[in-house]
Amino acid sequence: MKVGIASDHGGFELKEKISPILKSQGYEVIDFGASQLDPHDDYPDFVIPMGRSIARGELERGIAVCGSGVGACIALNKIPGIRASLINELFSARQGVEDDDMNVICLGGRVIDYELAWKLIRVFLNAKFSGAVRHQRRLAKIAELEKERS
Ligand code: RB5
Repeated sequence: MKVGIASDHGGFELKEKISPILKSQGYEVIDFGASQLDPHDDYPDFVIPMGRSIARGELERGIAVCGSGVGACIALNKIPGIRASLINELFSARQGVEDDDMNVICLGGRVIDYELAWKLIRVFLNAKFSGAVRHQRRLAKIAELEKERS
């Protein structure tokens, strides 16, 4: 599976730990930065290019890490085709994919530790959208919303 990963300074340490582990597990990992720890960098500069790449179909899933995970999630959900969520527990890591076809997991580098982050990522990457009619119907309504122009 081709997976994107992106962080600002708030998520940098977690991203740097997770990225090599993902590669060692056989994932093709595209790192959208940050490439170094810069306390003045801005999460949109990293997560938006990753989101656009996923929306273009170049990657299957994404992992976004900022300090809380909130800013990254807000930015990513502005991109049509991105279904991102801030995840802190295992139930939603799986159900978010099975029911809502979540394609980006957002994590808080200052909120959760590496062990939990890795568990959440594994569950997220192993989960599959159920394709159930009721879920497709709900996602179609969200896709309609994306067509609106403000
Ligand atoms: C950056 O200091 C911090 O605000 C950012 O990483 C993130 O937590 C935003 O939601």
